[in-house]
Amino acid sequence: MKPINTLAAAVAVAALALGVGVANAKTITMNLGWATPIDSDYGVAGKKFKELVEKYTDGSVVVKLRPSGQIGGEDEAFKALQLGTVDGYFISQNNVSPHFPLFDVFQLPYIFQSTEHAYKVFMGPVGKDIKDLLESKTGVHILMFGDVSYRDLYNTQRPIEKFEDFGGLKYRVPKNEVMIETFRAFGAEPVPLAWSETPTALQTGTIDGGDNGTSVIVDMKFFEFAKHLAILEHFSGVAPMFASGRFMGKLSPELKEGVLKAAREAEEYQQEVLAADTDESRAYLEKMGMQVTYPDKTKFIEAAMKVQDEFAAKKGEEFRKYLQMIRDAAK
Ligand code: PAF
Repeated sequence: MKPINTLAAAVAVAALALGVGVANAKTITMNLGWATPIDSDYGVAGKKFKELVEKYTDGSVVVKLRPSGQIGGEDEAFKALQLGTVDGYFISQNNVSPHFPLFDVFQLPYIFQSTEHAYKVFMGPVGKDIKDLLESKTGVHILMFGDVSYRDLYNTQRPIEKFEDFGGLKYRVPKNEVMIETFRAFGAEPVPLAWSETPTALQTGTIDGGDNGTSVIVDMKFFEFAKHLAILEHFSGVAPMFASGRFMGKLSPELKEGVLKAAREAEEYQQEVLAADTDESRAYLEKMGMQVTYPDKTKFIEAAMKVQDEFAAKKGEEFRKYLQMIRDAAK
């Protein structure tokens, strides 16, 4: 027995010397990143998830929150999850499809008829299938879909009152083919740009505007530069929390159960807390001096339906199957 005790003591002394508690030697750390500030919508879910994971795993899994692109930008995040160099990341659906094209079915303009319709899709059979397919094809896990939000359109130049006003401005769009084609169908020539370059491009006038989740426009204080906000509700959807296969592979069945339970509850919490967020953010932006317009959507929807049909024609059978399921869920 003596030699073992001596060895144990030596390990404990070495661990202390390294500043690591003996219990912590077994701790699994999850670095969880996102592109926007700590108090953005992603932070609402991220902070709750951290609290619950640490509770349900008794501190065996520790979540370190890495907002504001600290562990890389959103454009690179999916690849990093596949490589296992990032453990977890919230990625807006538009930045997922370059790596898993089926995700574009959610990005189609005016695909969701209402917030309720979108929740029915993400929380129902379509959401479940897409989670499973994404995991089997890419090795990356979806821990939660999260809350549904809308992208609102801002610009530094002029109010958008009608369809004909849309063109002629330099809008930033994420590097997503559905979004690029939609902006073209609305009469503009968009500028595909990574998110990390967008705030500076807006300040320096390289771009005139773009669209973002309403709360992102608030968090980034874009109202200081762009005085015009148009509510078109052309894109809506989610920014799921993803985890790498490498991180999930480190978890015992019990720890995995704790992490998944924490994700489910953090998702419900985020959906509840942010239920009124779009309306509140729009009111806040108006208060901060933005001129808010509500253009008639008829021509935007007509143009959007053509984009939906074009992508349905070129994206293949599986894409068409989920498009039909989403359309059916609105009935
Ligand atoms: O516009 C984007 O690229 C994304 O919506 C953003 C702002 C990174 C949030 O996920």
